[in-house]
Amino acid sequence: MNQKVTVVGAGNVGATAAQRLAEKALADVVLIDVVEGVPQGKSLDLAQAAPIEKHDAHLAGTNTYEASAGSDIVIITAGLPRKPGMSRDDLLATNRGIMKNVVRQAVRYSPDAILIIVSNPLDAMCHVAMEESGFPKNRVIGMAGVLDSARFRAFIAMELSVSVENVHAMVLGGHGDTMVPLPRFSTVAGIPITELMSPERIEALAMRTRNGGAEIVGLLKTGSAYYAPASAAVEMAESILRDKKKILPCAAYLEGEYGISGLFVGVPVKLGKSGIEEIISLRLLPEEQKALEKSAAAVRELVDAMKRMA
Ligand code: NAI
Ligand code: 2OP
Repeated sequence: MNQKVTVVGAGNVGATAAQRLAEKALADVVLIDVVEGVPQGKSLDLAQAAPIEKHDAHLAGTNTYEASAGSDIVIITAGLPRKPGMSRDDLLATNRGIMKNVVRQAVRYSPDAILIIVSNPLDAMCHVAMEESGFPKNRVIGMAGVLDSARFRAFIAMELSVSVENVHAMVLGGHGDTMVPLPRFSTVAGIPITELMSPERIEALAMRTRNGGAEIVGLLKTGSAYYAPASAAVEMAESILRDKKKILPCAAYLEGEYGISGLFVGVPVKLGKSGIEEIISLRLLPEEQKALEKSAAAVRELVDAMKRMA
């Protein structure tokens, strides 16, 4: 029997994630959305691409959760995306309500699933998902660091005219303007970028990474990025489904690691069949640690703001 992944939210990120999951033949995919006809239509369209793309993944679209029963992974992309001028945090109240509703229904049918959260504001939505699901911390994981690091990797590869395959990068912290690109842990063929570029160029690429989402929102005007976000969520799902134990930067619930407690923050984790199997503790320099703590403080503000909501 194939493994099963449910993707909630059949919009730009969700539908693209469903496409990538099916085309990599990683799992059967159930696509769920509140809008009638959209998940049905998109999953049928994707199923009709299967003979050409040569995969046998089964695709189903629905407005209810019965068909999602027994999912190994539930990827949640339901919610509103940013519009120009909006911050991720503006989405807080609306997407919190949507997240609660989605998680409640999803975990009823898939009590053993691993949740990959995508909806923004990401780190705060992970809190909502953990609280609403009652799941242990290894089974609630936020997607942001893989995307932010991929953006940094792409910019480094463009700058140095090298293959993206040679480039690894690490971006920690919350998924917001305070995210923390770490040049010391970013390499080209194993060589730290600090040996390949001037500090000014590194800072310029780090800044472009921090603004990576806003840059695309500004260009698209009617929504936010979705190709790279979908790829990032699917890389996480693949590591779990195939028990690959990749080390990826993800939003994880910290209980003392990096000196941070009771908060979802982006850190390197090992992803395998149990979800987060290990949180990797990097030895940070004082200025890196300070930047991570500043980023964690921005996440805590949102979590505190949610506590004040009804
Ligand atoms: P979209 O608007 O294209 O799709 C969102 C979908 O969610 C819509 O089809 C909508 O009908 C559906 N939806 C709304 N309420 C729902 C509910 N209660 N149940 C099921 N479906 C529901 O938006 P897009 O571009 O796909 O982005 C989705 C979310 O992901 C946004 O919050 C966005 O900010 C976030 N995002 C996060 C990223 C990250 O790095 N963590 C990267 C990219 C997007
Ligand atoms: C992004 O970084 C909007 O969070 C989304 O593209």
